Amino acid sequence: MSSAYGAHVAALQASYETVLAAHGLDAVVVHGGSARKRSDFDDQWWPLRATPHFQHWVPLSEPGAALVVRAGHRPKLLRTTAVDFWEQAPEPRSMHFVEAFDHVSLGSPDAARAHVPQGRVAFVGDDLDTAARWGLTANPAALVAALDALRVRKTAYEIDCLAEANRAAAAGHEALRRAFFGGADSELELHLAYLSATQQDDPETPYKNIVALDRHAATLHHVAYARGSKEGARTLLLDAGATCFGYCSDITRTWVRDGGDATSGAFRALVEGVEALQQRLCAAVRVGDLYESLHDRAHDEVGALLASVGVVTCSAQEAVASGVTRAFLPHGLGHSLGLQTHDVGCAVVKPRSDNPFLRNTRVIEEGQVFTIEPGVYFIDALLRPLREGPSAGRVDWRLVDALAPFGGVRIEDDLVVTGPRSVRNLTRELLPVGGGAS
Ligand code: GLY
Ligand code: MN
Repeated sequence: MSSAYGAHVAALQASYETVLAAHGLDAVVVHGGSARKRSDFDDQWWPLRATPHFQHWVPLSEPGAALVVRAGHRPKLLRTTAVDFWEQAPEPRSMHFVEAFDHVSLGSPDAARAHVPQGRVAFVGDDLDTAARWGLTANPAALVAALDALRVRKTAYEIDCLAEANRAAAAGHEALRRAFFGGADSELELHLAYLSATQQDDPETPYKNIVALDRHAATLHHVAYARGSKEGARTLLLDAGATCFGYCSDITRTWVRDGGDATSGAFRALVEGVEALQQRLCAAVRVGDLYESLHDRAHDEVGALLASVGVVTCSAQEAVASGVTRAFLPHGLGHSLGLQTHDVGCAVVKPRSDNPFLRNTRVIEEGQVFTIEPGVYFIDALLRPLREGPSAGRVDWRLVDALAPFGGVRIEDDLVVTGPRSVRNLTRELLPVGGGAS
């Protein structure tokens, strides 16, 4: 880890020097952030989530920490050592970052100002009050865009972190698969079991765990967990990750308890169909293609699946061309993944108007990391206009109504592009199956 980290920091230093020169800057202060209040009317604070720009360099979540980056100098890491008898910053999980920087210990966060060099200096971070107190321009748009571009292709160190974040999340997914098939049927209990299996506190997860039983699987981001048992629950959709030194995993699995009846057989066919088409999409990743063309292919695949299960009564082509598949798969096929679950740099260009929620419009390149997460859902708010519109006759509504209590299915893996026609699937090497029935 530490030799890969050394190379990562050396590459960042070189890239930052190029960006500083291009933007006429002598230095940049990369600020890690400060604690934020939950509400201005309260005296409670959220745990700090360090800014991604800072975590790109340093795996630390300490209020007030900052890094000064200058051409020709080792980056200078400023940390506050003042004793706080109310709260302490979390201990670093590892000290592998220590040798990469010159270190300065400060008595208070504002003492950092004295270590900011003279000249043209920009501030990058979300603590705008600190930027103003230090008299620095915060987040010039062109600079931030250039720094975001550095996060599109991952270094070997970053891929190690993303793999480790997958390993941690895989333990949680496996624990919940077993619990569900063993009879667990409370969303809140499943959520708590995931935190326990992954050894994460809730604020440390990359995004709020999505734990959905049955109809709740039709809410794409279901985080309002039902308390108590949902007896006889048939579907579990679990979309949950973990972090490693700020880097995120984002994994979805869908499991179904097969009731042996025709409807659960049809839902099982949908889950198995999404599993198969997700794998075909992963195998279809090609350097030089637009990610959006993979998203288009996902709609072709979903159209074919809906036709084969009988949800649509028209051809797959007609289901896509008429927009019917959009009601069953409303979100994008995936997104860039890194220090943010929805990472920056791959959605600079807007998607086509018929793909409004697609978060990756880049040409695929080696070194990118993104998710592939197709799904099929029975979402009331989208099915109602379809049922009342000109395409109503293209759908078997009796089957849709029978399947709606199962909610939906999504299967999601994290992929690294490793060559012109090859990917490393960080998720499948740990969780070989994406979903299915027992
Ligand atoms: N895992 C949640 C999302 O990708 O939006
Ligand atoms: Mn995702």
